[in-house]
Amino acid sequence: MNYTQPMLREGALTDKVAIVTGGGSGLGKAMTKYFLELGAKVVITSRDLEKLKNTAKELEEQTGGKVLCVSCDVRNWDDVEAMKDVTLKEFGKIDILVNNAAGNFISPTERLSHSAFDSILDIVLKGTKNCTLSIGKHWIDNKIAGTVLNIVTTYSWTGSAFVVPSACAKAGVLAMTRSLAVEWAKYNIRFNAIAPGPFPTKGAWERLLPGDLAEKFDMRKKVPLRRVGEHQELANLAAYLVSDFSAFVNGEVVTIDGGEWLQGAGEFNMLEQIPSEMWDMLEMMIKSKKK
Ligand code: HXC
Ligand code: NAP
Repeated sequence: MNYTQPMLREGALTDKVAIVTGGGSGLGKAMTKYFLELGAKVVITSRDLEKLKNTAKELEEQTGGKVLCVSCDVRNWDDVEAMKDVTLKEFGKIDILVNNAAGNFISPTERLSHSAFDSILDIVLKGTKNCTLSIGKHWIDNKIAGTVLNIVTTYSWTGSAFVVPSACAKAGVLAMTRSLAVEWAKYNIRFNAIAPGPFPTKGAWERLLPGDLAEKFDMRKKVPLRRVGEHQELANLAAYLVSDFSAFVNGEVVTIDGGEWLQGAGEFNMLEQIPSEMWDMLEMMIKSKKK
């Protein structure tokens, strides 16, 4: 048994049609690959059709599955509506929406122009809203059950310095997840989220740890399990949350970060740095105060 192995049973997503925004790279690509292996048809979208086509070719060859590439800027309502229409035309239905597309970069907030701030809010929050509203209305109007998986971050609830637009937008996406999980349950539409810790991808690492920052701030040291995530681990969780096996899971955000955010949060977690041989002395010092 190994966490880099596929988890769900063969055919777990047979006959499902999934849309993965930002599915041409990084974690979106990893989820797409696994959904295909499990029998789903997958629509991948982003602004770069060439990149999508290369990914589709690679994944179709690897899995024997069927991928539809659609150029779609999630910030643009008309693009999203057109993406929905072409999916219905090609695949006849939509069962699963994964709001994975995101934009992000590190910057002191006072250095940001108002439009730089907007560009992140627009991709992450408005993009998720556009896709959710477009496909959600289709499901509701046609009495179709659906499931939405939103990819957020652990700083959706802690906040984070130097990625403030992303933190604001992801917090909004988490609020949307929990709100619609309740409101649209009556339409048989489920909403869940995944909050990943560090999973190395080109897109994230180039913008969040440029230059030698990746060596300077070794992400593994921030994680109690002392490693970063493997893409298959996230794909396993995502596949479960979009599959019928999680039918009673609704409104949940599942953290997959090796304990990273809790390590930063616990008041005395820094005591991990105390060598074990020091604890006898510390215990003695504490007990001596009693006398
Ligand atoms: C300050 C910056 C900047 C930077 C861009 N801008 N980069 N400001 N510091 N490093 C400003 C620009 O000057 C411009 O402002 C505005 O932001 C929009 O920039 P454009 O390049 O015109 O925008 P666009 O082409 O739409 O690109 C969007 C982008 C880009 C977000 C800036 O990085 C992108 O395409 N990203 C997509 C992929 C991505 O980000 N993946 C990482 C996700 S990782 P002005 O004022 O000139 O208009 C993630 C992980 C979270 O979310 C958690 C990790 C643990
Ligand atoms: P990534 O490869 O850069 O993925 C982001 C994707 O979003 C890209 O494929 C990009 O494609 C697409 N995208 C960006 N702007 C778009 C727009 N306006 N319209 C449509 N698509 C757009 O980075 P990643 O690390 O895999 O991130 C995937 C998700 O995981 C994101 O939601 C991110 O916030 C989340 N996450 C990642 C980590 C991590 O450690 N990697 C941690 C926490 C959360 P184009 O540029 O071609 O449009």
